[in-house]
Amino acid sequence: MIRFCSWQRRLALTGGIRWKATSSRVEKAESSVQDKAVKPFSAIPSPPGSLPFIGHIRLLKGLTSLSELTSKLFKDHGRIFRFDFIGYSSVFIADPSAVEKTFRHEGKYPSRSFTEANVDYILKQRNDRNFFVFQSGEEWRDTRSKLGKQLMPANVYGYCPGFNKVSRRFIRNVYDVQNDDGFVEDVRDLIRYWSLEVAAHFAYGADIDSIKNKGGLEKEFQDAVGGLVDTLFDLQTGPPLYKVFPTKAYREFNKYLDKLIEIGQVYADQYTSDIKERAAVSEEKFHGMSLLEQWLIEGKMSAKDAISHSINMLAAGMDTTAHTTAFVLYTLSKHPEVQEKAYKQITSVLGDDEEPDGDSLQKMPYLGHHIKETQRLYQVTPYTARWLETDVELLNYHIPAKTTIFGGLETMGQDPTLFKDPLKFNPDRWTTDDIHPFTVLPFGFGPRGCWGRRFAEIEMKVLLCQLIRHFKMECDFPSDRLPSGGLMLKRPTAPIRIKFTPRN
Ligand code: HEM
Repeated sequence: MIRFCSWQRRLALTGGIRWKATSSRVEKAESSVQDKAVKPFSAIPSPPGSLPFIGHIRLLKGLTSLSELTSKLFKDHGRIFRFDFIGYSSVFIADPSAVEKTFRHEGKYPSRSFTEANVDYILKQRNDRNFFVFQSGEEWRDTRSKLGKQLMPANVYGYCPGFNKVSRRFIRNVYDVQNDDGFVEDVRDLIRYWSLEVAAHFAYGADIDSIKNKGGLEKEFQDAVGGLVDTLFDLQTGPPLYKVFPTKAYREFNKYLDKLIEIGQVYADQYTSDIKERAAVSEEKFHGMSLLEQWLIEGKMSAKDAISHSINMLAAGMDTTAHTTAFVLYTLSKHPEVQEKAYKQITSVLGDDEEPDGDSLQKMPYLGHHIKETQRLYQVTPYTARWLETDVELLNYHIPAKTTIFGGLETMGQDPTLFKDPLKFNPDRWTTDDIHPFTVLPFGFGPRGCWGRRFAEIEMKVLLCQLIRHFKMECDFPSDRLPSGGLMLKRPTAPIRIKFTPRN
């Protein structure tokens, strides 16, 4: 018997598409839109008070949480609204079929947003064109193709011994900082150290003990990444005055980037001194060797580019993974029943002294469901973003080419018409419910999707295995909902106080 989940029922009732995992899904979506008269772009609902050129920019003034603003605007206007700023219009959508359709139209050179061009402009001025997260067109495609081998599962699983080592250090840090009652007052600090250490491991082969090295390069690197992300928001949402004079955001962006490059070079010098001797290695040894070493050995790019890409990976992976893991440990420590289920699965796969690796992690799907369920409720990257080269019709509106289309992941993730009992934390829904695959996309989608997804997922699973096997965790935060905020990335904004009790 076919079971329809609520969002399918809603679409069927409203005469929209009924989702099936077939290749004709997009055509069906298009034909359902064509059934009705398509309305012009100007008819899309929009907050009042858009001013010439600056548009709705006043709504961003003093903002501390972008997703709070957009959640409100979705409530006010429905599943689609227009937001104008600095001469451009963006469209926000909270409908999985429309998000899917956007991705299906992304073309050969997917681009996230017109504002990428702002950062591109600054990088061109600096002659730092090799930060591929900001590249576009053929250049982006060429770079991404050169980084493909490192994404093979065998390679990423090859980092497991290092991930295990850093996770064991996390456990040591818990013992070092917990109080007499077993509480770590704010686990976010330990998570940030862990996240930097795992990223430094796969990017450079570095073995960093950040907590023992307080005030060292690690702290500076973390500050520079945080600063860079914040200034990115200013650069991407403000008028491009930096083309006329060096604005504050422009100067800060350059300052943080200089710092990242400086530290990246120090790491590179420190950890690749014996690269020539190691150049002739077997495929097996190659797996798990640092990204920088692999790129230098492969010789498909200059040493300068290889170092830039390593910095790019370290920076792109650090806070995204740290914030996600903070939410994951929060949901884990709030739900003892989930913890016990995970514990049972882990101990049924791993022997007492055995550490997780590629084979064993694949036998623990529950960890993946737990992470995904957390990401549904706490979207660190709350939107998908695409800037299309062609016109498209979405939700019965005409969207002209070169409009940035944001998919409201947070709103969809908590939509009662898409998820049964949406505020309930239930990792099992990922095996029992029929969930549209474009509702929860924390890593984006397609050829421009997150390059480091596999790294992030494996790092987190290794940490979870180690922690769950070692401790029972309890969080005494008084609410079921952890406060969060942020402009580019969503992060927990309250301390996460967790009691760690050894299991034996
Ligand atoms: C939980 C952790 C992470 C989250 C939530 C995350 C999320 C994302 C998202 C949403 C995108 C944009 C995708 C799109 O536009 O479709 C992205 C891009 C990217 N991510 Fe991640 N990421 C994470 C971890 C990492 C890690 C560990 C690395 C490095 C190893 C990394 C490297 C990148 C890079 C290089 C891009 C740009 C890809 C391109 O433009 O082609 N990310 N990430």
